Formats: sequence, structure tokens, C-alpha cells
Amino acid sequence: MSAIDKELDNMVAIITGAGGGIGEALAYELGRCGARVVLGDLTSPEELAVKLRALGIECRACVLDVTDAASIAAVVEAEERVDILVNNAGIMQPKIADHHEQDASLLPRMLDVHVGGASLMASAVLPGMSQRGSGRIINIGSVIGHVGLQRRTAYSVAKSAIGGLTRGLALEYGRRGITVNTVSPGYTLTEPLRRKMAEGTLDYALFAERSAVGRWADPTEIARVVRFLAEPSSGFITGADWLVDGGYAINGNPGESLGPLSKP
Ligand SMILES: NC(=O)c1ccc[n+]([C@@H]2O[C@H](COP(=O)([O-])OP(=O)(O)OC[C@H]3O[C@@H](n4cnc5c(N)ncnc54)[C@H](O)[C@@H]3O)[C@@H](O)[C@H]2O)c1
Repeated sequence: MSAIDKELDNMVAIITGAGGGIGEALAYELGRCGARVVLGDLTSPEELAVKLRALGIECRACVLDVTDAASIAAVVEAEERVDILVNNAGIMQPKIADHHEQDASLLPRMLDVHVGGASLMASAVLPGMSQRGSGRIINIGSVIGHVGLQRRTAYSVAKSAIGGLTRGLALEYGRRGITVNTVSPGYTLTEPLRRKMAEGTLDYALFAERSAVGRWADPTEIARVVRFLAEPSSGFITGADWLVDGGYAINGNPGESLGPLSKP
């Protein structure tokens, strides 16, 4: 690895939801840049940890439920320091349906995992970061926090609220050397979504068509932006929302084709 790849040397990064598609890409990206990565998920991502260690990346896999303060404390307190927190854990709506047909518990559940989880995680690492006078928190939002999406309103509400959390924390902790940003991915090709496409229950072209680049993202393209924001030299970027959506949200006329699709 070249010197430029070691921007995160001696840093500890916690990645929530690390067992999934974007989380896994985050683990490789932060790890390859020198960070010791702590991989948290509802089921401990042991297999991923084995693959990372084989590449010389220092890591720890653990069970982590971001909605449970005791689970969070166990993970955070096992580390001497946490320099980087990536709040990536998330859930999709179990049912795509009109809002009035959704279970009343859906919205609170979406908020609990996406916003409550990110908030609890941040509260657990902020005292140590404040004491050391440095830290990076990156919250994974979504393009759906920027545009509406019918029949997935609860998800959209939760992802929009992440922006509020990011901005408030950025203001509160900026003078303690801590930056807080949102990265909002567009449609990203993760394993569960690839499977849905293969089954024919998800239409790749429908969402690729609207984007300027004519394709979905690879998870590594999201991870690179997170890594950039995590670097010590990114200290002047805070409270921002980085839309990494291939130009999806800017399209004011999705009905008009922009030309042939690109290769994924
Ligand atoms: N894939 C996309 O197209 C896309 C687009 C925009 C935003 N996102 C966001 O990116 C993030 C990662 O998504 P992904 O596509 O990799 O999904 P994914 O389902 O593959 O990964 C999410 C991970 O979060 C974990 N998780 C769920 N609840 C948790 C909890 N309470 N505590 C700890 N972990 C928990 C899951 O077990 C899973 O491994 C999510 O926040 C998602 O909303 C994804």
C-alpha cells in the first residue's frame, strides 16, 4: 500500500450494520487505509473478519444492536478509543404499501433503528472524542431522504431525520474537533437487491434510467466517500449531506430518457 492509502493509521473505526453490502465495503475501505475496524451487526460478522484479517486488516467482529444502549456500551467500552463512527445499520420496509395500510409500529421502528440507533451510537462515542479533541461521525442517509418515494414513506421520514441529527451534532461538537456528516447513497447494488433482481421482483432499469449516469452504484463507490470524510484532513467538512446518487435526485423529468443505460 502507498503512503496515501494509510490515512487512517492507528485509528479505530466502528461500522454498524457491517454484515451487509455497504457495511462490508466500508470495512474493506477503512481497513485498507489503516484503520482497525470494529464490525457490529445483529449477527456478528465473523466471516467478514476472517477475510479482512487475511488481507492484514486489524478487526473485531461483534454482536451489536444499535437500538439497545447496553449492547452499544459493551462494544464501545471494549475499545480504548473510537476515532471514527459510521452509522450504517438500516432496515428496509417489510411491506411496500400505502401509508394508511402500514402497521402503526412501522414509523416508530424505522425511526428507532435509523435515527435512534445513530443517536445512541453517537452518544456513546462523543465523550471520548470530545476528551481527545478529535473524531469523525458519518451517518448513512439515503437519496430517499431527499426525494419522496411512494409506499415507503416511513423509510423516507427516517432517512430525512438523519439530516437533522447530523446538523445538530455538527454544531454542538465542531469546536471539540469532531465533524459529523451524512452520506446519502442512491440505489446501490448490494447482495439482497441483486437477488431480488435475479428473482425478477426488482427492476434495475427503472431506477437506473432516472439517474444521470444510467446505472446503480457499487458499494465501494459509497465507501470511498465515507473514507474521505473520515480522514484527518477532512476537518473543514461538517454538517453536510453528501448525495452520492449518480445524479438521481437532480432529474426533474424522469419520463424523458437520457439515453442508453451504462453497465453496472
Ligand atoms: N442499498 C441501497 O440501495 C441503499 C441506498 C441508500 C441508502 N442505503 C442505506 O445504507 C445502509 C446499508 O444498506 P445496505 O444496502 O448495505 O443494506 P443491508 O441490509 O445489506 O445492510 C444493513 C445491515 O444493518 C444491519 N442492522 C439492521 N438493524 C440493525 C440493528 N438494530 N443493529 C445493528 N445492525 C442492524 C442488518 O443486519 C444488515 O446487515 C442502510 O442504512 C441503508 O438504508 C442503502
